[in-house]
Amino acid sequence: MSSLNISDTELSRLSEKAVALVLEYWASLEKRPAYPATSGMQTLEQFSQPWAEDGMGGAVLDGFPAIAAHARPSTGRFFGYVVGSGEPVGALGEFLAAALNQNVGAWRSAPSAATIEQTVVGWLAEAVGCAGFSGSLCGGGSTANLMALAQAREAKRPANETGASPCIVYTSEQAHMSIAKAVALLGIGRANLRFIPTDDGLRMRSDALEATIAADRKAGRSPIAIVATAGTVNNGAIDPLPDIADIARAHDLWLHVDGAYGGLAALAAPERFRGLDRADSLSLDAHKWLYQPIECGCLLYRDRQVARRTFSHAGDYVKVLAEDPSETFAFFDESLELTRRFRALKLWMSLQYHGRRAFRETIAQDLHHARLLAQLIEAEPELELLAPVSLSAVCFRHRGKDNTAVLKRVNARGRVYLSNATIDGQFALRACFVNHRTTEDDVRTIVSEVIAAAGEVNR
Ligand SMILES: Cc1ncc(COP(=O)(O)O)c(C=O)c1O
Repeated sequence: MSSLNISDTELSRLSEKAVALVLEYWASLEKRPAYPATSGMQTLEQFSQPWAEDGMGGAVLDGFPAIAAHARPSTGRFFGYVVGSGEPVGALGEFLAAALNQNVGAWRSAPSAATIEQTVVGWLAEAVGCAGFSGSLCGGGSTANLMALAQAREAKRPANETGASPCIVYTSEQAHMSIAKAVALLGIGRANLRFIPTDDGLRMRSDALEATIAADRKAGRSPIAIVATAGTVNNGAIDPLPDIADIARAHDLWLHVDGAYGGLAALAAPERFRGLDRADSLSLDAHKWLYQPIECGCLLYRDRQVARRTFSHAGDYVKVLAEDPSETFAFFDESLELTRRFRALKLWMSLQYHGRRAFRETIAQDLHHARLLAQLIEAEPELELLAPVSLSAVCFRHRGKDNTAVLKRVNARGRVYLSNATIDGQFALRACFVNHRTTEDDVRTIVSEVIAAAGEVNR
């Protein structure tokens, strides 16, 4: 028998210890600094070690507190980037999913998991006003955007058989970097990605979009797709979706909406997302604004046949012989991966444990926290808002000090963690609210910490 097998008693001891460590971690979250005060060198020294010939057994779990001490904690005072809070019921779902070890490539290899994934994808589609869309879960928004643009290209300028021919994609100057990455990976070429200027709310200008498409057509080029953003990473701007959808229809272009950050806020503020249902494809990230443990991206699409044309390359060994059509269903026919994790279980558990209202209200609370921070900044003479607050990302600066130094100092103080953005060429401090643990006190702490940190820097 393999020495990888362990006894039931040992397994039960290990599980209890692991659960105790996790509970201790969750209980300690709000006492932890918003970012660990550890250096790269210290972390390297702590974790860079050889793989020993003999196993250390259960003592391996003793290393967890050190891993947690060097980790970004999911506290309510971490406001950097777009980092969701890792809802604990979802985390337990991750544990159960790993224990089941399903390959959710197809119904055949994971009957319950594949069906649960189809169900939760349907919930997400319906929640954002896109009922009837199909889709799949994936690692995150970047993968979802890549798969969406692969579908767009196959729909408008098929490349799977013959290879890519030149074509043009449009997005705004505020688009997430994953769009340029997808365009590069698909061989479309970054020179064929047009960055359309934005208005004073940092939303794509539809007049400029229309003019750029017309100029490309006139020059004999082949536009294929527009990528609108529903929640830009900088300030949460939502591009004018109805206008852009009209342009896409008039020019027979694929409309992809990158809603990785903002799309799920349609649950709480549907009026801001009118036109979302006119997209051909839509990226969502439940590990951002549905608080799920990372990874939990989702791509929704209107036409499964296009998804199949793009991704179905099934070899004989995966062909399923079954009468019941639901048993022949395969995510690998409609998406990138073959072997796929049971990502849906965390959503299935977390969304049902709390119910829809709790998520809607928590998203509304994040929106409220962003508005509150904006008001506090406007009331504070030393601070200045740098961009309109469209969703839950707030960009601002200290009027009198070097803001890079202020940011470093804020984060070193460890009470809150902020990231940065560039708005109209200016360095901005940025706080983003996608965290169910954040309180109003935490929001107020951002202002007091920035003022205190500014007092500690010279320039
Ligand atoms: C608008 C937008 N699109 C795409 C992404 C990429 O998502 P992920 O980090 O899950 O790959 C992000 C990440 O912040 C984002 O804000």
